This record gives sequence, structure tokens and C-alpha cells, in this order.
Amino acid sequence: MIKREDVTKIMDAIKIEDVIGAFVPLKKRGVNYIGLCPFHDEKTPSFNVNPVKGIFKCFGCGEGGSAISFLMKHQHYTYYESLKWLADFYHIKIEETELSEEEKQERTERDRLFHANEFAQRYFQDILFNDPEGVSVGLSYFEERCITKETIKRWGLGYCKNSWTDFCDAALREGFTMEELANAGVVVRNEEKKSYYDRFKARVTFPIYNVGGRVLGFSARILSSDKSKAKYVNSPESLIYSKSRVLFGLHLAKESIAKEDLCYLVEGNMDAIMMNQCGVCNVVATSGTALTEPQIALIKRYTRNVTVLYDGDNAGIKATFKAVNLFLEQGLNVRTVLFPDGDDPDSFARKHTRDEFKAFLENNSQNFILYKTNLLLQQAEGDPVRRAELIKDIVHTISLVPDMLERSTYIQQCSSVLQVDEATLAKALKDQLRKNAVNKAKQQAKEESFSQTDVPITERSSLAFSQQKDKLVENPDYEQEKGIISILLKYGEEETNQDVYDESGVLEKKSIPVAMFVVCDIANDDVDFNDELFAKVFAKYKKSIYENQTIPSAKEFIYDQDDGIRQLAAGILVDGKTISPLWTEKNVSVPKPEDQDIRDKLIFQSLLSFKLSKINSYIKKINEKISKTTDPDKAFELLSENKRLTDLRNKIAAMLNRVFSN
Ligand code: UTP
Ligand code: MN
Repeated sequence: MIKREDVTKIMDAIKIEDVIGAFVPLKKRGVNYIGLCPFHDEKTPSFNVNPVKGIFKCFGCGEGGSAISFLMKHQHYTYYESLKWLADFYHIKIEETELSEEEKQERTERDRLFHANEFAQRYFQDILFNDPEGVSVGLSYFEERCITKETIKRWGLGYCKNSWTDFCDAALREGFTMEELANAGVVVRNEEKKSYYDRFKARVTFPIYNVGGRVLGFSARILSSDKSKAKYVNSPESLIYSKSRVLFGLHLAKESIAKEDLCYLVEGNMDAIMMNQCGVCNVVATSGTALTEPQIALIKRYTRNVTVLYDGDNAGIKATFKAVNLFLEQGLNVRTVLFPDGDDPDSFARKHTRDEFKAFLENNSQNFILYKTNLLLQQAEGDPVRRAELIKDIVHTISLVPDMLERSTYIQQCSSVLQVDEATLAKALKDQLRKNAVNKAKQQAKEESFSQTDVPITERSSLAFSQQKDKLVENPDYEQEKGIISILLKYGEEETNQDVYDESGVLEKKSIPVAMFVVCDIANDDVDFNDELFAKVFAKYKKSIYENQTIPSAKEFIYDQDDGIRQLAAGILVDGKTISPLWTEKNVSVPKPEDQDIRDKLIFQSLLSFKLSKINSYIKKINEKISKTTDPDKAFELLSENKRLTDLRNKIAAMLNRVFSN
């Protein structure tokens, strides 16, 4: 229990933006603050903090409340623990009285696991610094690896003695039960033999923290080079620890990741620790396991830019390829850095200063797609079969990039590196995109029917599947339509330089708003969007431009009443990446959609592809009609329409080729 007066003092001190800001990067927006909601996975910030009212509210998932409810929800603290945390945060001295019955009950099972782990963390560190064995074995090991005392403290490192039950006995004395210790994974219990022992016996301990800095478990390293034993022993999965949902070091890296707008990803815990000690703090480790989607979601809360620093050996390269495909699918920008022979981030950090390290990373980080292309190209030299496979592989990777403009940029780059005609690559990409979509639809249908095992082949699952499939079968223009809508939402209000007709019907280069150019061009040709949502969005642009001469801002779509439009707009906008200066390629010039003339070209190109796709669909329909009709007059009419469209198609295709080739 905390005394009433102390509680009042704490309440008076609370500034909700400081409290939440300790866990979630917040940006000031007018009088409020916004950030990415920590309670659900989101891409655009809908998490609002109102300092005046002292409340937070997420408009995405509906979570909301006070600073205390935030701590209870986010940190899994009890009410009492939240107060203690706040007292500590604001340096308010509190007097505690005995735990009340109620408070004792509030210690839920999760809390007990946190407590057991946190006790273990303090205990292991105490041993490391104060116990003779801890100092001579554990501390000297860290010294050998150039880890400073400050780093040890920052990361909460420790040592578990070479004894079967030293830690366990201490924990039992402290009032923890054997069940709690076993559930937390710090102690291994053998039911049959009724025996137990310290899981991390004779190892240095690396606590694994959640984003908020609470201890979930440990990774413990052996000190000898005994190959018969595992190098690391890790906490088992528990109520609080799930290895696929944690990134080692994120609790220390998150601010720096947000600030630098970049996350370095390494394999080893040691790598993350040493880079942090060296002063490169925006780093997390995957701890040797394959990267998972929840882990990517964690990174995405802070940045969309990732640089992978895996080993250059074969296993490392394989792991990198896998990780990168996953990142691309999730809409992140990925670069890679290869270390010089024999070096890894850990050894490199030991030999260099922070500035040297940073300069190295900046100078050696490569655009992933080009890196992969070059690497595979070396491997496939003189082998046409492998070369064909390689092209497929690269196109597959490119197809995972969610942003259309970026995909075409990559296609351009690869075409020059691979010496393959750009149109050929573009065609392969189109096929791959279709394949991906079909696979996704299948996967979705499978997942849905799987999650509803109690209902045999539900209407819903077959509906979801057929809807997705319909999209592709019935709307062959889907990608092109999406391209147009993406351009409108992302760049609609900006200016573009295009050839437009002036009043007297003369073509001239003119700077006009993107949405104006695109909408008028499409409206002139009187083409419709097949996709219902795209059509709705387009109609809104058209109405606003034609009736009010104003261009709707993307916001109007994000906050639209229509769920579908809101989701669509948000989905498209979050794909948009701000390409940071780090992304400028050293030796290859990377065209970026940010470059005015490249963007102008891409806009024009998208319009042409859109029209080409539309015309192809019309031609297909006409051909179907021709094959069905028995009336010679009708057939003639259709044939001439076919001819007209085919000519038009060839014209547009030629224009598109010209855009491609200059
Ligand atoms: P590394 O072998 O690269 O470890 O494995 P490291 O952290 O760089 O260790 P040092 O430099 O040899 O001291 C990468 C990561 O894989 C996990 C650990 O999380 C490690 O940090 N790992 C490795 C295990 O979980 N178990 C193992 O047996 C080995
Ligand atoms: Mn290492």
C-alpha cells in the first residue's frame, strides 16, 4: 500500500505525454501528440494523447484511458505497480505499507513470471559483480570481450554460478514458489525425480526484455568452447515469453531507431550489445532465429527502413534473402551490408569508433535488390539455366515490393544490370504479381477455413476466396487501376510537368497538379474502373475537380465514412515510403520516385499502362463477341472496332516503349 498523500503527489506529477512517451515515440500534432498504437499493429498513427485531458485514445482499436491504465495495459503492471513506476519516474519518495489482501490477489500469474525473471536478473547481476566466482569467471569473460561495466549495467547482464541450485535456493528464500520459477523457465524441474536445477548454470546471462523494458526471459552463453554443449541456453516459451515476438535489444534501440528512421538488424546478441556500446544504438538482434512477421511489426512501429547486417557466409546469405523477402512483403525498405572477411558487427565495433562504424555502414549499405542481382549474377556466370532461374528469383523478389513506382524503378535498374530488355522484365513481373495474388487468395481461404474448423466449408471462406479470385479473373486491369489510384492518393496535390493541350489545341509542357492531369486524362477517354472501390475513389476526385476545382487531400479518404475507402486509402498511403538520404546509391544512379522528372515519367507511364490494359480488355471482349456472332454485318462492325482498338493499342504500346527506352 502507498500512503494517500504520496498517491496524491504522484497524481499531481503525472504528465501523460511523458509517461506514454517513455514507451511510444510520440509526435506533437497541435495540442495533442500522436504515435503508432502499441496495442494493435498499425501503419498510420491513430494513437492520440491529449495532455490537457490527461488521456490517450486509439482511434484504430479503441483502446484508451489514463496514464495509469496505459501502464497497466502496456506493462502488465497492477494498479499498485503502476503507481510505484510513476513514483520512480518522477523521483517521488513513497512510503510503503504491507500489501493488502486485494493487492496480493492482483499479482496475476503473468506478474509472477515477470517478478521471477526480474528477481533472477538482479540476482545474476549481483553475482557477477559481487561473488568471487561471478567476478573471476563471469566478469572476466565480459572484460575479455571488451564489454564495459556500464554496458553490463545497461543490458542487465549477469552470471549464474556453477552450482545446481544456487539461484533456485535464493529465489525460494525470497518467497518465490518452485512452480513460479519453473513456469518462468529460470529453473528446470524434473517431475519424476522430484529434483530441480538452475537452467542457466555456469553461464553468463543476457536478459531478454520486452519493448517496455521488463524481463521476459534469458539467453545464457556458455563460457568454454565445449562443442558438446549448446552455446546458448534460452528461456523456454512461457506465458510472457514468445521468442517469435521479441527482438533482442529493442527496448534500448527504439528511440534511436525512430530518430534515425533506420533499424540495423544483426544475428547475434553480442553484435547488438557491442554496436550499442560503440554508439550505434539503432540495432536489434534476431537472436539467430528466422525472422517472423510479429518481429517485423515491432520494427514497423518505429521505422520503415531496415539494414540487414548478417554474415557473408552461405548460411548468412540464405538467411538474409529470406528475411529480406519478408521485409519487402511488409512494405519495408531494405538494404544490406557485407562485412569484410572475418569481421562481424561485434568485432568491427571493437576496432572502430562510432563515427567510423557509421561511415562504414553508410558507405557499404547496398540496395538489396541490386545486391542480390549482382550476387546471383556472379554465381550464374556462363550458365544460361541458372541465369534464367536468377531472373525469375529477382522478379519474384521485386514482385514483393508493395509500391508500384518502386517496383518499376527496380525493374529499370535490373534491366541494366542484367542486360535484359525492360519490357520483358516488366512482363515477367506482371505474371508474378498475378501469381502472388492467386496464392494469397488461396492462402487466405485456407486460413479462414482452418480457423473455423467447427463450421464445415463455410460460406465465408469460400466467399473470401472467390472474391479475391474474382478480382483477378474478372478484373485483369486490377494492378493498373491500383497504380492510378495510388498516384492520386500519394501525389495528387503535387505538381507534375506534362504535355497538355492549351486552349488553342496545341500540345505544350506545363506544370499542373498530378490529380488534375490524371483525372482529366482518364475522364476524357471515358474509361471506367472495374474495381468498385477504385471507382468510388476516382469518382470523388472527378467530382471535386470538375465541380469545385479543388483536389481532395488524401486525408479526406483516410477519414472517409466508407470503411472500404478508408482502408484502401490508408493501405496505399502507408506503402508510400520516404526514401531517406541514406538510400542514394554510391556507384549506380538510383532513380527515385522523388525525382521530379522520373516521377513525371512514371505518372505518364502509369497512365499509358492503365489505358493499354483497358484496351486489351476491350479487345478481348470484342474478340469473344466476334467468335460468337453469326450475323455478318455485326461481325464486320465488330471487326472494324477491333481494328480501331488494335491500332490504338499499338500506338500506346509504342509510346510506352519510348517512355521505357529513354
Ligand atoms: P552466434 O553464434 O552468432 O552468437 O549466434 P553471438 O551472440 O554472436 O555470440 P558470440 O559472438 O559467439 O559470443 C547468433 C545468435 O543465435 C542464438 C543466440 O541468440 C545468438 O546471439 N543462438 C546461437 C542460440 O540461441 N543458441 C545457440 O546455441 C547459438
Ligand atoms: Mn558473434
